[in-house]
Amino acid sequence: MEKVLVIDFGGQYAQLIARRVRECNVYSEILPYNTPVEEIKQAGYKGIILSGGPSSVYAKDALLCSPDLFSIGIPVLGICYGAHMTAHLMGGKVEKASGREYGGTDIRLDCESPLFNGLQETQTCWMSHNDYISQLPEGFKISASTPSTEIAAMEDRERRLYALQFHPEVEHTPDGTRMIRNFLFKICGCSGVWKMESFIDYAVKEIQGKVGSKRVLLALSGGVDSSVTALLLQKAIGSQLCCVFVDHGLLRKDEPEQVYRLFSREFGLNLVAVDARQRFLQALKGVTEPERKRKIIGSEFIRVFEEEAGKLGKIDFLAQGTIYPDVIESGLGNANVIKSHHNVGGLPDNIAFEGLVEPLRNLFKDEVRVVGERLGLPKSLVWRQPFPGPGLAVRIIGEISQDRLDILKECDAIFCEEVEKSGAAASQYFAVLTNMRSVGVMGDERTYDQIVALRAVTTTDFMTAQWAPLPMDLLQRASSRIISEVSHVNRVVYDITSKPPATIEWE
Ligand code: XMP
Repeated sequence: MEKVLVIDFGGQYAQLIARRVRECNVYSEILPYNTPVEEIKQAGYKGIILSGGPSSVYAKDALLCSPDLFSIGIPVLGICYGAHMTAHLMGGKVEKASGREYGGTDIRLDCESPLFNGLQETQTCWMSHNDYISQLPEGFKISASTPSTEIAAMEDRERRLYALQFHPEVEHTPDGTRMIRNFLFKICGCSGVWKMESFIDYAVKEIQGKVGSKRVLLALSGGVDSSVTALLLQKAIGSQLCCVFVDHGLLRKDEPEQVYRLFSREFGLNLVAVDARQRFLQALKGVTEPERKRKIIGSEFIRVFEEEAGKLGKIDFLAQGTIYPDVIESGLGNANVIKSHHNVGGLPDNIAFEGLVEPLRNLFKDEVRVVGERLGLPKSLVWRQPFPGPGLAVRIIGEISQDRLDILKECDAIFCEEVEKSGAAASQYFAVLTNMRSVGVMGDERTYDQIVALRAVTTTDFMTAQWAPLPMDLLQRASSRIISEVSHVNRVVYDITSKPPATIEWE
């Protein structure tokens, strides 16, 4: 399969570049900066893009690729930090600028360059850098300049090495995608045949080749990733797939029944459902600290899963719904842990598997959703809002009990129903059961009951989020219904904190 490599030098830059490449119908992969050149050569990439990054090439601990990368005959495009590295490793010079150049900047392009072919000579581009290339490496020439940066782009056409000081991958460089297209099609000679259908065929063949006639085990949670993984595996190997669904009692109202009905009855999966509700409640008894809750749920889940797997006879492979952002997040590993986001379904360590099957490993979330749709999953499941692995446990502040779970499930179901009915814009919305009680009055009677918080946010990446300004009448309806339909709740509050400083979940 035709593919292009994006080399990651830290930060979030590589993901966006990889997205842009895929939007041009060319499959892309991201690998860390220290991947051996030999491995890159063997993999048969049509082109290599060096991402931006937060450091300086001349810093003591700078992340640098091997200079050999530039002489294996594959075209290279360096972006920002990637451009500095090209200059630095090829014998040019990079220096600290007197001030930071940041924002939309006028640029003049040499449209003879294959990278800028067919574009207007004067353009706007997005700059964000402290360092600049002060001296060209031998064999390179300038192909774009701005009023303050003479070497805004440079190239060695013969060796097919290109470098851009600005960021073509961001929307603020209006013609950036056309530059990336030029790199892919005019310089690397890609043909642009990548699409989701070709991915499904490719994945099915790969799974069949790897698994043969052996058996595969998958923990199905009913979330998008594990559901799509299940259907892809079913398409590839049919009844050789065994799925285990662990009902830990921390899912939303009616969810376990829905998952079982859909996958067992409608899709005919080989599915074992385990009722582990009491077991989880027992394990969580008396626990109030959020991180401990997460750890207990994770390890209890693996124990239940291992026990069930033990009953199924010999199973050779373990499948997981790992997706690209999970892989990348664990890649360079320099982000601080705010919450341990283990997804339920981590690796069991007491069963020996011959190998792992992770068919979605190279897909972004919205690509996973498209695959899900193509495989016939209902839209409501494919486009559902995220739900944390530890489930409602992190939405009950303080101790978890059956009574408190029942209260939260009812409140959450009412709020979700009202948000969905109103069509209000929110990326994630749910109820939280606080650990506070307050005084109220119902009829003539004083009450002293629980406080429920409603949370709704808008976001594209869930790394930052804004609290959603839901319509007043929607909040009013949700609040009255909760108070009148759910016993032991006498106050409803709405969370008006964005992320940061708050996180989306309360725990
Ligand atoms: P926070 O609360 O960190 O949440 O702002 C960001 C997104 O991640 C989800 N989330 C989790 N997902 N396991 C998960 O699989 C977890 O432990 C977990 N904690 C938070 C959260 O729902 C939101 O979409």
